[in-house]
Amino acid sequence: MPDSANFPLGAQITLDELAGDVHPVLHRLRAAEPVSWLPALNAWLVTRHDLAIAVMRDAKTYTVDHPGFSTAQVVGPSMLSLDGAEHVRQRRPFEAPFRRTAVHNRFRQSVAQHISKLLDELVPKGEAELRREFAGPVAVKTMMTALGLDDVVETAVLGWYDTIVQAVTQVTAGEPVSAEGRAAFAALRQTLLPSLRRNPEANLLAAASGMAQGLSDEEIVSNAAVLLFGGIETTEGMIANALYFLLTNPAWLKRVQADATLLPAVIEETLRLEPAAGVVDRYAAQDTRLANAEIAAGDLVRVSLSGANRDSAVFPEPDRFNPLRPNLREHVAFAQGPHVCLGLHLARLEAQLAVQQVLVRLPEVQLQPSEMAIAVAKPRGLVFRKPEALWVRW
Ligand code: HEM
Repeated sequence: MPDSANFPLGAQITLDELAGDVHPVLHRLRAAEPVSWLPALNAWLVTRHDLAIAVMRDAKTYTVDHPGFSTAQVVGPSMLSLDGAEHVRQRRPFEAPFRRTAVHNRFRQSVAQHISKLLDELVPKGEAELRREFAGPVAVKTMMTALGLDDVVETAVLGWYDTIVQAVTQVTAGEPVSAEGRAAFAALRQTLLPSLRRNPEANLLAAASGMAQGLSDEEIVSNAAVLLFGGIETTEGMIANALYFLLTNPAWLKRVQADATLLPAVIEETLRLEPAAGVVDRYAAQDTRLANAEIAAGDLVRVSLSGANRDSAVFPEPDRFNPLRPNLREHVAFAQGPHVCLGLHLARLEAQLAVQQVLVRLPEVQLQPSEMAIAVAKPRGLVFRKPEALWVRW
């Protein structure tokens, strides 16, 4: 274990600070210890933009293929838990159906319909909690359509989802895979298998399956589970965070209402300020040196995407909400390198349609003016960062 005396700032940082208003902490770390040892995480934390990218691009030195990653123990090996040739083999069949044009052709209409139905129910109410009543359901319904699960009861999918997430958390804490976790994955697997056999036009899984030279059904199902998990919590957070920044920057809210062409830049700026996945994890495959740190083989290296995205060397006045930045796309909310988010075009499409429809259908939308509503709206979380709740009225 590294000597904490070499990283005095990292030594003081608590989990509460990392899960709460983390940005001042990340600024201090980046300036003094851009790669720091944090005893609270039992891991290195990388906060500089250039170093974050160097780690994510170098899968030989910083790998995801490590028993410390518990997802693979519950849903089997997938693109998320492999590197090198095996990663390429598992990811490749999914790449074509997730390209921008393919995603827009396949999903624009169905996602817009899901959003429109949800808003039909909300509009007459006059108030709502937009994270659970809107952002979450948009993400769930989209992924169910993507995987060919439209006919399955949503609560069943969400039940398996919760149980599998719980099983992964228990494995991370050193416990064996629970019987409930196994049963939930078996049920999900049984439900997904028929999707694979459908016509490639029917769903993404069938499309990937058609191109899955050499991928077994088991492998496709494991990757489908990763898609489901990769596509729900993060997208819910992405949409909720985008709404949060617009609701707390009313001048921009009005501007986007007047000119929808500004929306893509607004969404990118909200991804920069608060990436829904704030951290990605790697294990050092060998002893190595990164900036000021001597990293030993086997150490956990956590890349702070939240930190990289507010590096003033890349983004001047990094804490300011400014969708007119010329280099917005240099944010790393979707990671970089071989594991760059596969779903980024779908996620952007969902967020753009969702926010646009909210602004059109709820033109007077505003945060509930109570102190409590304002406090819980601020994104927080150690890994997944989003509002605890987004209470609004219109
Ligand atoms: C439609 C929604 C989404 C789907 C289907 C999806 C799917 C995936 C998949 C399959 C991977 C693993 C790729 C690989 O290991 O080769 C991945 C990685 C990633 N995704 Fe997404 N994702 C979605 C939305 C999002 C959103 C909204 C965010 C954040 C704003 C996000 C952030 C990331 C990050 C940071 C990684 C890299 C993980 C790592 O390097 O360890 N994703 N995504």
